[in-house]
Amino acid sequence: MDARDLVRTVKDAGTARGLRALRTAWRHDRADAAALPRRGAERARVPGALTGAEPLPGGGVLRFARSELRVMVAVGGAVFWGWDGAGWVPSYALAGGGPEPDPRAVLEPDTDGGWRVVSERVTVVVSRTGAVEVRTPGGAMLRRELPPRWWEPVGEAVDGGPRAGAAGAGGGAPEPGGAGGGAPGGGAAGDGVDGVPGGAAGRGAGSGARWLARAEVPADARFFGLGGRASGPRLRDGTYRLWNTDPRGGFGPEDDPLYITMPVQVVVSDAGTHLMFHDSTWDGRVTLREGEEGAGSGQDRPGVSELRMEGGPLRGWVLVGTPARVLRGWAALTGAPAVPPSWALGYQHARWGFGSEREVRRVVAGYRERGLPLAAVHLDIDHYAGHRVFTVDRERFPDLPALAGELREQGVRLVSIVDPAVKAEPGDAVYEGGRAAGAFVRDARGREVRGEVWPGECVYPDFTDPAAREWWGGLYEERLAQGFSGVWHDMNEPVSFRPFGDMTLPRSARHALEGAGGDHRAAHNVYGLAMARAGYEALVRLRPAERPFLFSRSGWAGMQRYGGTWSGDVETGWPGLRASLALVLGLGLCGVPYSGPDVGGFGGSPSPELYLRWFQLGAYLPLFRTHAAIWAGRREPWEFGAEVLEHARAALAERERLRPYFVTLAQLAHRTGAPYVRPVWWGAPEDRALRDCEDAFLLGDALLVAPVLEPGADRRAVRLPRGRWYDTATGAAYEGPGQVLLDAPAGRVPVLARAGAVVPVRGAAGLELEVWAPALGRTGGGLLVRDEGDGFALPELERFVARWAGGQVWVEREDGTAPELPVRVRGV
Ligand code: GLC
Repeated sequence: MDARDLVRTVKDAGTARGLRALRTAWRHDRADAAALPRRGAERARVPGALTGAEPLPGGGVLRFARSELRVMVAVGGAVFWGWDGAGWVPSYALAGGGPEPDPRAVLEPDTDGGWRVVSERVTVVVSRTGAVEVRTPGGAMLRRELPPRWWEPVGEAVDGGPRAGAAGAGGGAPEPGGAGGGAPGGGAAGDGVDGVPGGAAGRGAGSGARWLARAEVPADARFFGLGGRASGPRLRDGTYRLWNTDPRGGFGPEDDPLYITMPVQVVVSDAGTHLMFHDSTWDGRVTLREGEEGAGSGQDRPGVSELRMEGGPLRGWVLVGTPARVLRGWAALTGAPAVPPSWALGYQHARWGFGSEREVRRVVAGYRERGLPLAAVHLDIDHYAGHRVFTVDRERFPDLPALAGELREQGVRLVSIVDPAVKAEPGDAVYEGGRAAGAFVRDARGREVRGEVWPGECVYPDFTDPAAREWWGGLYEERLAQGFSGVWHDMNEPVSFRPFGDMTLPRSARHALEGAGGDHRAAHNVYGLAMARAGYEALVRLRPAERPFLFSRSGWAGMQRYGGTWSGDVETGWPGLRASLALVLGLGLCGVPYSGPDVGGFGGSPSPELYLRWFQLGAYLPLFRTHAAIWAGRREPWEFGAEVLEHARAALAERERLRPYFVTLAQLAHRTGAPYVRPVWWGAPEDRALRDCEDAFLLGDALLVAPVLEPGADRRAVRLPRGRWYDTATGAAYEGPGQVLLDAPAGRVPVLARAGAVVPVRGAAGLELEVWAPALGRTGGGLLVRDEGDGFALPELERFVARWAGGQVWVEREDGTAPELPVRVRGV
């Protein structure tokens, strides 16, 4: 317990909730103490010396004295490696059954007694001691995973079986293997639904052996990703935890971890970009240290990533190439990002504490009367009866379906919060239903695990159980009947309040894990992901003609298949504004392109200036939503004075103008994995200055947005990638690479357009193409996917080319015909 926890404990202890939370904490800790194996004597193990190799499709198996390594290059170029018999399935991250091996990738002897797999895009070299080096086809080192190390209890089998395939050939080894008898851990059995079959592969989900994977990257490399981090997007030297966590009441850049952690890192260096994914759902810590060129005696000191995992299979994927290619490969591996319905690309307003239908109507009227566009209103837990999920407080919200219909006529949708915890109260319909379905998480002795959340004492659906997902999904029918158009999953780390320690379920709580069985240590990080799957699949089932709108506070690798996310309770303050952008960028690089912050911050009251700057940033992010806590000040744009209102109106108008571009970006994210919001190095990872630029971003290929993240600024420096860029406000042209100083008056933030860009926008008369003149002698282009409504049709992708001819800028379709859309040329 740290000092902050202590103060909180004393403060909360007086309240009934505080007392219950305290009791829950004690109960959870006692359960863990009784059920979890105590860490006793352990023995370290390393692979030992290479003893043999066997070719298999896409690569092969390399045998070492005390372990074995499967290397496989998949069709499309992704590289898999897994130790100790770990295969690539089952996996919560992978879409479908995982990729196929590339038959052209073959295992061959390397110099120095090692082996290598050579494929079109990547070469993997395995050393005699088990280091795995990933190289570009040109031979440049991108990443070198050093031989791993395991810690195993001495004399007893670890939960989930001993290592498979290591054959106990430990003669003369410093750390003999053979941790004990039991079932082999290598078999993957199961139903294979969505790539998550029932068995544990190798050291599968149930395995509690700790391991360490240390890797070197080029000295100039920068790290990004690891899920949603408040302190990015560039991840500085330090330790980052892999355990989805509610940071309690609000977070700033110094808080780590947050709600979504992922063992996914994107590494950018001169030699190339790669993404490394360690596919274990367990708790872990990543320590990053950037390298240094010409360190010490003029020798480069490589960058280092050190991953310590509490368990799970020791396996990973590496994707190499340009940033675009890497993200394309990641989406192919883990699934295409769901396309939100187009209304969800408009501005949305939420609040914890509208408190009544009347207040909702008042707020919506406030937008309407001022002519401010509003796409959706989100109802928080205060519309539930007694904070209970899938209920409505009929006194304050007597007729939600009527309210929903009325709002719908004004073009405003209703979105509902959905919390996973169910009030443990006999007679409660949801509780009884879940009990009958056997859907709730139980402890090692078979009793329901109780936690403390908004409604009081609660139980938790086990979303890692297909039957529980099915039961839970059926409940969404009630939400649809109430008139809701989308869902907002919250508190799904999952949270159980407690005054000190880890605000979640006991680690000994049991989970189905798709039939493999295991405890919360393995299930915790995928709880939100599995809940998203339950919700998404239910919505598709219940309303097959519409794409679901779902976003979730917690999640893991692959969550984009089901929807997006948001910042969670970002602290109101300038550091929170900065963290908002870091989160969106980092999540995008981990494959989750749809997200955005609580504009204005979750708690307190932003100054008018801070509110406005946040609003202006939000207008360029995929999820553009104002939201705040029940104890916080207002977040409607008219609550901050006439000047802020006018500037917010301009930001909203620009968002509306860019809606066709957002629709296109959503479709492109689905087809290519490229996030809408990209770091400025996206197209130019070789530009080192861009790798360190954290205060601007690319919106698609066409726009560079430079939000104001500091108080009192009326201009700001903007770092430009190579090529010509136009200030969209003034039309002035600048040549990159380099840095320019641009005006950023209260009314706008600098936005630049890339020369040659063709941007679909909504003009006065409908869809049109805005074209930014290419540099003389150059061409440009752009893409358009038209809004075809909110179904699942995959609309056609139209490509346009922009070029100079006869002293004029022309836009044509790919086939040379003229677009039948109005074209507006700018920058001439
Ligand atoms: C959590 C959510 C927040 C929500 C609140 C009440 O703190 O992050 O968005 O308003 O719970 O449901």
